[in-house]
This record gives sequence, structure tokens and C-alpha cells, in this order.
Amino acid sequence: MTKVECLSCHQKFPLDPFFPFCPRCQNPVFLLPSTLSTKTSSSNSQDDSLLNQSQSSSIDNLSLGEGNTPLLRLSQLEKLLGLSSLWAKNEGQSPTGTFKDRGSIFVVRFALKLGFQRIGTVSVGNMAASTAAYGQRAGLETYILVRGDVQEKKLDFIQTYNPHLIQVEGDYGELFEQSYELGRRHNIYFANSVDPFRLQGYQTIAKEILNQLAPNFPEVIVAPVSSGGHLLGIIKAFLDLNTLNTLACFPVFIGVQSDRCAPLAEAYSRGEENFQRMYNLPPVPYAISNPNPPAGNLLLKLIYQYNGYLIAVNDQEIQEGQKLLAQKEGIYVLPSAAATLAGFIRCQQQDPSLAQKTTCLIFTGTGFRGQRLFPAEKNKLHHTSLDHLDGLLAKMIDKKKPEN
Ligand SMILES: Cc1ncc(COP(=O)(O)O)c(C=O)c1O
Repeated sequence: MTKVECLSCHQKFPLDPFFPFCPRCQNPVFLLPSTLSTKTSSSNSQDDSLLNQSQSSSIDNLSLGEGNTPLLRLSQLEKLLGLSSLWAKNEGQSPTGTFKDRGSIFVVRFALKLGFQRIGTVSVGNMAASTAAYGQRAGLETYILVRGDVQEKKLDFIQTYNPHLIQVEGDYGELFEQSYELGRRHNIYFANSVDPFRLQGYQTIAKEILNQLAPNFPEVIVAPVSSGGHLLGIIKAFLDLNTLNTLACFPVFIGVQSDRCAPLAEAYSRGEENFQRMYNLPPVPYAISNPNPPAGNLLLKLIYQYNGYLIAVNDQEIQEGQKLLAQKEGIYVLPSAAATLAGFIRCQQQDPSLAQKTTCLIFTGTGFRGQRLFPAEKNKLHHTSLDHLDGLLAKMIDKKKPEN
């Protein structure tokens, strides 16, 4: 039996895959260790429980190579912004281009283990594509519910994996809630943003960061926030490591939202315990756009408890972040991921002591799927023939020389 625990009220109970929330306080739940074993007759190792499988494990041939993404030093930005130690965990190098793959691999393993033939998800795009890719690989029927206003480009990308794709008009928060009831009725395992298996997958990043940064230690960790599931999973992983006394110190966590839809950052700025659900917002062109984040209140609680920050950034800051990363560091990220850098810059202006800390920015998705926010510089584009190439290069290089 799969058992879960609520991180808020600490109640333990069997998981209901059709409503994976705490029945007492409605918060997301976490799997209890040792709850699942995938032991096969050919294996007698303790280490093959579903929870212990490394994300790149090929035990069941479902992995697409998720996890183990690079950690990169951002030396140019350190200089430019006057920071001591700035690092990027580039989740854009995941198989479908976002961190969601860390969760999707756990979801399909569980779905197969429990004998589900159908999985699904409610998503604005990135989780949809990831779930579709892993669902197809696992041979599962995959049902993707997206908002009515999802951009063409995103729909097209999701369709690459050929899932059943349904655009649903109406309130996104209600769609999220209804999906569980629909799942129960049609026997579809809806693994949404705070599914406990997804959250388990998100936790795998913690040990990677610790190993990759050693002998240094992440004192600040920054991530974009929509449903809150991703950052919640990461904090939970560090809490678990903390109980094992393996941490030099507990990191400061910074969650970043777009100011177009920032229920958590707004609640935090008012010092409120619970966020207020947002209604009738104009379409937000970013993946970080959940008006009713299911992990929101638990995330607020943990951010207050461990002296973190929840911060909102505007379009211009996101655009500038995306441009800085591409043009100073050669890393092209999604706008939602660029919000991470924008949020850290903003936060560090409020709390200058952050500039001295070893900071890990989590870039949650690649920009290579489109949605570049800043325009290309026209004067950087040149046309020439082979005959004139040498001359053109000479002219361009000459222009750059400082005048005497
Ligand atoms: C690229 C990207 N970054 C960050 C997030 C936020 O993650 P979460 O919804 O778990 O807070 C999302 C969510 O869709 C995303 O697609």
C-alpha cells in the first residue's frame, strides 16, 4: 500500500491517486519512504524501491535521461552584478526541455506499477509535453487538458508526442479540481502539478546540487513558482537532508512569480498566512501563471518558517533576465526560467547580504522552443559573399578597437 504524509499537519494515510491531498487540511502530500518497492525476481537489492531509483536509472527502460543536468558558474553575471558566487542549474537540458521530466518519470513508473492504462495531466504546456512524452514511452493512453488560451506553438509542441489533447475553456483552478473527479470516473490517473510522485521526482535535484557544488554549499536557492509544487519538492528534499545532519546550513529559498499572476508573492508581501485565489485574469503569456496554486499555503508556511522570500517580477525584468542570460552567459531559457534571475536581482537589492552568498538559480526550462521576449539586434546581422568575407570581418573587428 502506498502511504503518504502531510507536511503541514503530519497526518499519515493511504494515498488516494484520485485525490492526492491531505483529507484534513487539503495540502499536498509526500510519499513515505519505503512505501513502494519495485522488487522483481531478478533483483534483491534494497535500493530498487521506486523512491530510491535514481532519475537516470534504466531499470525499467522508461528513462529518457532526465536529471543530472549541468551546474554552470555564471562568472560574467557575477562581475556585472557584483556577486560572489552565482550558479545555474540548467534544467533546460532535460529530455523535453523542462524540469517536469524529473516528475514524469516517477509518475509513469507508479502508473504502470498500479496497473493504470490511462494517465493525464492539467497543464499550461510544459508538464503537458513532458507527461505526453513519458506516457507514450510507457505505452499508456495519455490525456492532456490544457487551458483554452494556450499558445499555438505550445499546442504544436505537445502534439509532437501525439497524446489525446483537449483545450478546455473556463477557469483553470476549476479544471484542476474537476480533473480528479473525472479521473476517478474514467480511471485516468491525473498526475497534476502537486502529485506526490512528481514531488518525489523534483526532490532528486537536491543531491545533485550538493554534489556538483561541493566543496561549496548552496546558501541561496531560487526558483520560479506557479502551482508551487516544484519549489515545495526541493524544500522537502533539503528538510529531509537536514534531519540526516548532512547540510552545512539550511539554504534560503526564494520563489519568484510574474506580477501578472502573483497570489503567493502578494500574500507574502502582506504577511498573510493564506493566499487569495485570483479570478478573471487576462491571459498570462508565461508558464508561471497559476491563479490558485495548490501548494501555495504550504509553501507560504515554509517560506516564513525558514526565512525565505516570495517575490514578483514584471515583464521588463523577465525580458532583461532572458537577454542577460543569453548574451552574457550563452544560456537561452524560457521566460518563466528567466524570472529566476530577475527575482534574485530584485531580492538582492532588498537584502544586499545575499550578494555574498553562494547562490544557485534554477533555470527550469529551455528557450529553444520559442518565446524569445527580446528583439534581435538588427545591426548584428550581415550579408556578404565569400569574396568579401575577409574584408567584412576586418571592418567589424577594426570598429571594435579602442580609439587612441
Ligand atoms: C518552465 C517552468 N518553470 C517553473 C514552473 C513552476 O512550477 P510549479 O508549477 O511547480 O510551481 C513551471 C510550471 O509549469 C514551468 O513550466
